[in-house]
Amino acid sequence: MPKESSIQITYTDFDSAKELAYDIQSVLATAKEYANNAYAPYSNFKVGAAVLLSDGSVVGGNNQENRAFPSGLCAERVAVFAASSSHPNKEIKKVAVYSDGNDLISPCGSCRQALLEYEEKQGQSIELYLINSGNRVRKFNSISELLPFAFKFNNFKGEIGEE
Ligand code: THU
Repeated sequence: MPKESSIQITYTDFDSAKELAYDIQSVLATAKEYANNAYAPYSNFKVGAAVLLSDGSVVGGNNQENRAFPSGLCAERVAVFAASSSHPNKEIKKVAVYSDGNDLISPCGSCRQALLEYEEKQGQSIELYLINSGNRVRKFNSISELLPFAFKFNNFKGEIGEE
């Protein structure tokens, strides 16, 4: 007999970033600042991201487009790749993503896949905060909330690090 199932995801909405703790407010502010430096001449859609690491340092990023469209990269991946390349052994605690406008930005599938891998590598959840220009915030406690049925390496081989 076919068996239908469903999955529930959890997130929290805040009317204003002011309802959040100061440490995350400053990460959100960094994401917003970085949006100004986005290179987005093709979409004109500027996105900023910021990553809070376990030692309290914050690494920013923004979307970088290219005339060969697929060669560009989203803000989240620019930020998280920069963080991991400079601080490979520090845990990623929180990621914030900002874009102008009323809608809350929602990371693309490739960014979810990339962020999830760091969560699995460190064995600790990464909090994700989405923020718009009206200062409205949506918080996810884990990237896994956003990517159920993610591709896992052991789908075809072994766990990471296994021979
Ligand atoms: N973009 C991001 O930087 N982050 C997202 O979460 C979604 C989309 C960028 C990619 C591209 O430069 C522009 O927004 C329009 O898609």
